Amino acid sequence: MANDFDGKVVVVTGAGSGIGREAALQFSARGAYVFAADLNETGLNDTQRVAADAGGRLDISVVDVSDEVQVEALFHLVEKDGGRLDAAFNNAGVTGRTSRIEDYPDDDFDRVIRINLKSVFLGIKQQVPLLLRSGGGTIVNTASVAALTGPGDMSAYAASKHGVHGLTRVAAMENAARGIRVNTLAPGWTETPMVAANSAQNPAFAELVKKAIPAKRGGQPSEIAAAAVWLSSSESSYVMGQMIVVDGGMTIGGFEI
Ligand code: NAI
Repeated sequence: MANDFDGKVVVVTGAGSGIGREAALQFSARGAYVFAADLNETGLNDTQRVAADAGGRLDISVVDVSDEVQVEALFHLVEKDGGRLDAAFNNAGVTGRTSRIEDYPDDDFDRVIRINLKSVFLGIKQQVPLLLRSGGGTIVNTASVAALTGPGDMSAYAASKHGVHGLTRVAAMENAARGIRVNTLAPGWTETPMVAANSAQNPAFAELVKKAIPAKRGGQPSEIAAAAVWLSSSESSYVMGQMIVVDGGMTIGGFEI
């Protein structure tokens, strides 16, 4: 396993924090040349420092994934400096505000859809031609358990994440015979800075969620990232258009007697 990404070029968005950072570090530890993109430059610098300390090769780019021009520029850079693309992990995302649909402002809805869903569309547009030129590869898009459920007060988030899996399926269908595998990663309650911030805002809800998770704990970013890396590796060579749910059993359904 150790160096199975040797010679491969991997792009990870949202790599300045949480799941994306862990994935970028795991790809790098397995030999990939990683392009880490995020809006948060400080976070990217930290990711780069950890990768470099471990002997990895990781370049950083400050990019707004919802901006077409910036996304195009990122992949031009990847082509110029990396020379190829083997795997993309479209992972950047935001939760957005929480309120009932009748109170949810249009602008906030549009913003969440742009950052969580349109970004994946913009990314895939750039990635497919590059992956084809490299002889194939993989795309993994981060959704959420909210792509399977209807969390109250989170209309924009749940709609965006359901949409991510729809896009994944279409991209997987369009590219399965061309050597490009596209899959969705659906994390459950993962203890990243985003979740910590939400928990601080609403501790009672955070406690309730943990009780409701069959594993009785949140996931670690590294546990979620490992699934993204697996979906990007040759070990998952026959997995296409699927949503891999990594949630401590949160969406099993049913109940324990
Ligand atoms: P995080 O907040 O630690 O990391 C998200 C990163 O995305 C941040 O570094 C942020 O700067 C970046 N980002 C936000 N908007 C961006 C933009 N427009 N352009 C570029 N970068 C941008 O959160 P986490 O948990 O690591 O989130 C990663 C993905 O996992 C997200 O798509 C999130 O929706 C999803 N997810 C997270 C869960 C959790 O419990 N933490 C559960 C289910 C899904």
